[in-house]
Amino acid sequence: MKKLVVFMLNCMVVFQVFAQNMNNEKESRMQWFEDAKLGIFIHWGIYSVNGIDESWSFFNDYISYDDYMKQLDGFTAQNYNAAAWAKLIAESGAKYSVLTTKHHDGVALWDTKCGDLSVVKSSPAATDLVAPFVKELRKNNLKVGLYYSLLDWSHPDYPNKTRKIKRYETDSLKWDRFVDFNFCQLEELSKQFKPDLFWFDGDWEQSAEKWNAKELSEDLRDWNKNVILNSRIQGYGDYATPEQGLPITRPDNRYWELCMTMNDSWGYQHNDKNYKTPNQVIRILVDCINKGGNLLLDIGPKPDGTIPEEQIAILKELGRWTNKHAEAIYGTRAGIPFEHYYGPSALSKNGDIMYLFVPHIPRGPLVLKGIKNKINRMWVVGNGTKLNWDVKMKQYWSSVPGIVYIDVPEKVLDDQVTVIAVLLDGKVDLYREKGQVIESN
Ligand code: GLC
Repeated sequence: MKKLVVFMLNCMVVFQVFAQNMNNEKESRMQWFEDAKLGIFIHWGIYSVNGIDESWSFFNDYISYDDYMKQLDGFTAQNYNAAAWAKLIAESGAKYSVLTTKHHDGVALWDTKCGDLSVVKSSPAATDLVAPFVKELRKNNLKVGLYYSLLDWSHPDYPNKTRKIKRYETDSLKWDRFVDFNFCQLEELSKQFKPDLFWFDGDWEQSAEKWNAKELSEDLRDWNKNVILNSRIQGYGDYATPEQGLPITRPDNRYWELCMTMNDSWGYQHNDKNYKTPNQVIRILVDCINKGGNLLLDIGPKPDGTIPEEQIAILKELGRWTNKHAEAIYGTRAGIPFEHYYGPSALSKNGDIMYLFVPHIPRGPLVLKGIKNKINRMWVVGNGTKLNWDVKMKQYWSSVPGIVYIDVPEKVLDDQVTVIAVLLDGKVDLYREKGQVIESN
C-alpha cells in the first residue's frame, strides 16, 4: 500500500514537472508576441481586381466561380514594392505582419510546387510575392506571420466548392489526398520562409481529426521550433483570435489578438470608404493593450501592389502615436480595473509603472483611487513634463488610500490620446477591501 502511494506521488511530481516545462516553453515562445501589441494583417489576392469579398463572393454566389477566377488576369503586382511595404509597417509601430499566402479561393501567392493554382503560374504577376516580403520584414526586424486557409474551395479534392455545390459527401481517398496537399504546402511555407507565426483560417469546416491537426502542429514545430500558431486549427493553437469585435471583458486566454479591418473589408474594395479614423484605431489599440492583447490591423493592397492612400494615412498617424508612446505600449501588461481609474491603463512588465491613457481633454484633474503604493513621480509620456498631484481623503487611522488628483495641463495633450506615467515605489498594490470605520480619534 505504502509503495503504491509513493509511486503515485512520484507520478504526480513527474506530471507536474512536465506540465511546468510545457508552460515555460509556451511562455518563452509567446514572449515576443505578448510584448508586440500591434501587427499588420495583409489581405492581398485576386479579389482586389474587382474589389469584391475575398473568396466568399463566389462561395455565397454573388459572382460565379468562373467569373471570380477571371480576376487572375487582372492581378499584375506591377507596382509591388516589398521594401516600401515593410518600411511602412515598421513605421506604423507594428512588430509583426501577417500576409495571406493563400485564402479560401486556393490561389497561392508563392511559387508552390504542390499544386497548379498560384499567381506565379496563372496571373500576369508571374512571380513569387511572398519571398520578397518575408525578406524585407526580416530586414526591418519584424516578425513574419503567414496566413494560410486550411480549407480550399478551388481544390478538386476538397469536398465543397460553393455553399450549394458539393463535390462529394465522403470519399476518403480524395480527402487523404487533400490533407497531403495541405501538408505539402505547409512544409514548403515552413521550410522556405521560416515563419515566426502561422495564422490559420477556415478550420471550421472540418474536425481536428480530419485536418490531422495534431500531427500538423507537431510537424510545424519540427520544421520551426518556436513557431506560434493562432487558434484556428481546431484546438491546437496558442492564442485566441476574436475577429472584428473588441472584447468588452478581458478574454480568458492570456494570449489574444483582435483582428480588424480599417474599413469594412479585408481585401481592397474601391467602393468601401467606411474607414475608421486614426483616433478610433488608436483607441481600439489602447483598449487591446488595456486588456493584455494585441491588435492585428488589416490593410488591403490593390492588384498592382500599391497600398490605398487612406490606409497609408492611418498607418502614418498610428506610427506617430506609437513612436511617441512606445514605453507605454511595447512589453506592457494589462492595466488596473476601471474602479481605480476611469479609463484604459497598462502596467509595466514589473508592475511598478502605471500608464494612464487619456482620450479626452480633461475638464478637471484625473482621479486615481485605491492605490496603496507611494507615488514617486509622474510624467507625460513622449513629452517628459513632470506632473503635480494632490492627495485628498487620506485619514491617518484608515487603511483606505487617499484619492489622487492629477493635473494635466492643456499644453501637454496629444492630438489623439495622451499618456501619463505614474511611477510607484514597487509593484502596484490595489486596495480591494471594504473600507473602515473610525474606532478611536
Ligand atoms: C474570416 C474570413 C476571412 C478573413 C478572416 C480574417 O475567417 O473567412 O475572409 O480572411 O476572417 O480574420
